[in-house]
Amino acid sequence: LASGLVANYCTELHDDQAHKVDTFLHHFQLSDETLMDVSLRFRREMDKGLCRDTNPTAAVKMLPTFVRSTPDGTEQGEFLALDLGGANFRVLLVKVMADGERKVEMENQIYAIPEHLMRASGSEFFDHIADCLANFMEKMGIKDKKLPLGFTFSFPCQQTKLDESILLSWTKGFRSSGVEGKDVVSLLRKSIKKRGDFDIDIVAVINDTVGTMMTCGYDDHLCEIGLIVGTGTNACYMEQMRNLEVLDGDEGRMCVNTEWGAFGDDGALEDLRNDIDREIDAGSLNPGKQLFEKMISGMYMGELVRLILVKMAKEQLLFQGKTTSELLTTGLFQFNVALLQDDKWYSLHLLGLDPSVEDCIATQRVCQIVSTRAAHLCAATLAAVLRQIRDNKAAEKLRTTIAADGSVYKNHTEFSRRLHKMVGRLVPDCDVRFLQSQCGSGKGAAMVTAVAYRLAAQHAE
Ligand code: GLC
Repeated sequence: LASGLVANYCTELHDDQAHKVDTFLHHFQLSDETLMDVSLRFRREMDKGLCRDTNPTAAVKMLPTFVRSTPDGTEQGEFLALDLGGANFRVLLVKVMADGERKVEMENQIYAIPEHLMRASGSEFFDHIADCLANFMEKMGIKDKKLPLGFTFSFPCQQTKLDESILLSWTKGFRSSGVEGKDVVSLLRKSIKKRGDFDIDIVAVINDTVGTMMTCGYDDHLCEIGLIVGTGTNACYMEQMRNLEVLDGDEGRMCVNTEWGAFGDDGALEDLRNDIDREIDAGSLNPGKQLFEKMISGMYMGELVRLILVKMAKEQLLFQGKTTSELLTTGLFQFNVALLQDDKWYSLHLLGLDPSVEDCIATQRVCQIVSTRAAHLCAATLAAVLRQIRDNKAAEKLRTTIAADGSVYKNHTEFSRRLHKMVGRLVPDCDVRFLQSQCGSGKGAAMVTAVAYRLAAQHAE
């Protein structure tokens, strides 16, 4: 009887807290109907970005990547790759073996980019990248070789060819001056030339979504979408050239980098953004920009939770109305939302709080609601991409593979579970396989370079 009573008490306690939070965060919960509407809105934004006339004013840029085909397995060679724009900066040496082996081997090294360099001048920034590359080549004993290099640069860029990429605007935590509007390949070449102790052949610049798609595409030929939910969020997919009006030519396909993080920058999501979303944006490095990303990705999720906890405490709904200086500090609450959901005690104690059982249950619920909204919004835009591909193929039922990567997608299993489930609900007529890519953003740059080499060799024949 006693244990029954305890169980009852726990359930009640749980329900009470959940109810309290649900009421407070009702505007964070989006119905299937609303998500379907978001999906339709995003499809219109995609169209706007694809069409020549509307592209200049479109919030969602739909950038051509000049990647026209996924790997066919015959690629081979030794390639260098740089991966910049996620949580870590990485240099890689990738060996791609053909001969039916389909094997990829790689060595890689993570280098720190100190905070001050992320905000320093462009030349200092690229000098540092060149330094890291030199250090890596030395370690690998390849400094005397002129290897082809693929550069994963995960920011919105206007490309005119595979090896020219003009940064439109920094996103996430980066703000190095004098780079926006410039070709990042030239900047990197300049920094390498200045050193004069090694040479490389920069063949391709790609986005991390493209790298992710290419890496999985090597194993799964149905793969035609790349998804990232990490520090930022974004997706790319294979589009028909005839729909990509900003480029000439109607034949074949090209991978398009949607830059969906900017969805809503023209006001398209105002009815869904709430006071917390506005507060996050106002305190960010790029106010008014990347509004969709700020509702979803890892860089903002912890901060969303923190702001909600502060607000609830101030309204006497949590921590007996108390706040601590840690809880009130922007960014100090950058722990993983997934972690907080499992290990609420420890994380709250770290913030100097002395939470009651109720507080912990309520905090857990806050995390759940924030990450559910993120997963569901992502599902809505992904569903729009899936419908676009299905319509392009005039297929009744689409079978396709989505390559996915990023810290939130990989480490927050509840997030990916909810995302998969909602995609299934929003596009029941698509048979979708999600494939987690392994180190896709870096390896993918080598794959793109390998494909470019294969195609160049074929042309030369
Ligand atoms: C940001 C960048 C985008 C990148 C994404 C994931 O949204 O603008 O290019 O793909 O983050 O890293």
